[in-house]
Amino acid sequence: MSTSRPTAQDRLLDLLEAGKEPGQSRDFVDLLGESAQAGPPTGLAQRLMRTSVVPTIYEHYWRPALGRIAKGLSGPSMAGEVDIAVNLLGLKPGGSSLDVACGTGRFTRAFGEVVGPDGLSAGLDGSRTMLTKAVATTGPVSVAYLRADAVSLPFRTSTMDAVCCFAALHMFADPDAALDSFTSVLKPGGRVALLTSARRTWQPAHTVDTFGGAFSGQRMFDRGEIADKLRDRGFTEISERYAGVTQIVGGTRGATIAQ
Ligand SMILES: C[S@@+](CC[C@H](N)C(=O)[O-])C[C@H]1O[C@@H](n2cnc3c(N)ncnc32)[C@H](O)[C@@H]1O
Repeated sequence: MSTSRPTAQDRLLDLLEAGKEPGQSRDFVDLLGESAQAGPPTGLAQRLMRTSVVPTIYEHYWRPALGRIAKGLSGPSMAGEVDIAVNLLGLKPGGSSLDVACGTGRFTRAFGEVVGPDGLSAGLDGSRTMLTKAVATTGPVSVAYLRADAVSLPFRTSTMDAVCCFAALHMFADPDAALDSFTSVLKPGGRVALLTSARRTWQPAHTVDTFGGAFSGQRMFDRGEIADKLRDRGFTEISERYAGVTQIVGGTRGATIAQ
């Protein structure tokens, strides 16, 4: 007798908190319904992600170009970023990962390859146009997408082996609440990987970075700030790397969540 494997979307639905009723969508689970925006709007950068144009050029042009400006010449390439994320997350075949603010799903698909057909690689984003582009790109069978607010993840506690959030924490309305939520959905011993802003320390550059962030609606974190926030939440094995005005920070969730 052959038993068919549940789809990635079925497995994703199984992990949702009780009472979360997904809206009708053929291709991704939608918890935001008619609402155009996930949570309170934070500014220009977030607004651009909801347009129909940016998602069409995002993965091949927009993100590599703006990423290079932010990271500087010595920073990792896009493929390098994916490798760093996979390594920091310690993904294994059969494991579960959540790519928060997944955009068009570049990282989600890569994680799906690593966790394999018995694993789950969930991609979550608030932008309908980003997710429409993500589902139009063929990916591994382990991939499923969800439209929801990254600041308040709709998953039951301790359900994910890994949570990734690249290039987005700085555009959320409440990054601290988002980090609390990431911590809560991670299993004890689960891994987090974050790429976000890092203000330069030299005072004139620090001021320029602060104004640039305010103009675009993106929070500029200080160097060491994200590592401290993870430590405050009971994470261990924290690593930090800096390039230009970016930081990539990884950590392991402790057995208990620090209050
Ligand atoms: C710059 S893209 C990053 C995409 C991908 N992680 C990457 O590294 O290329 C930022 C993404 O965050 C999403 N986003 C912003 N605020 C969000 C929120 N509150 N909830 C869910 N997604 C959000 C945007 O829709 C956009 O797709």
